[in-house]
Amino acid sequence: MENEFQDICDVCPEKLPNYETKIKSFFEEHLHTDEEIRYCLEGSGYFDVRDQNDQWIRIALKKGGMIVLPAGMYHRFTLDTDNYIKAMRLFVGDPVWTPYNRPHDHLPARKEFLAKLLKSEGENQAVEGF
Ligand code: LAC
Ligand code: NI
Repeated sequence: MENEFQDICDVCPEKLPNYETKIKSFFEEHLHTDEEIRYCLEGSGYFDVRDQNDQWIRIALKKGGMIVLPAGMYHRFTLDTDNYIKAMRLFVGDPVWTPYNRPHDHLPARKEFLAKLLKSEGENQAVEGF
């Protein structure tokens, strides 16, 4: 059985060490080689992800909400005007938080993500054309 990891991350100047630096790096467009899973316990924030045309889609994460970003998907995170989120970070296996700032298109995780996206687009078209 693969081990699972969880911890709680308080994102506000008083509780997050190196707050300014971290907030900046969260908002740099990046990807990870594993899923990014966040469950919002308090507060709120925005995850931006790219659509098929490389345009941003903004996702509001609020208390009780959860987001799972697939490995290889470019994204960024920012707080909203309330300036606070308390989130549970979940990870399947031993956690690896490394962000790879765009462009990192040669990574296997990126290639696998794009291959899955193309496949699901193909399947959707097959259904639409039926
Ligand atoms: C992270 C988020 C904020 O990588 O994208 O921690
Ligand atoms: Ni991330």
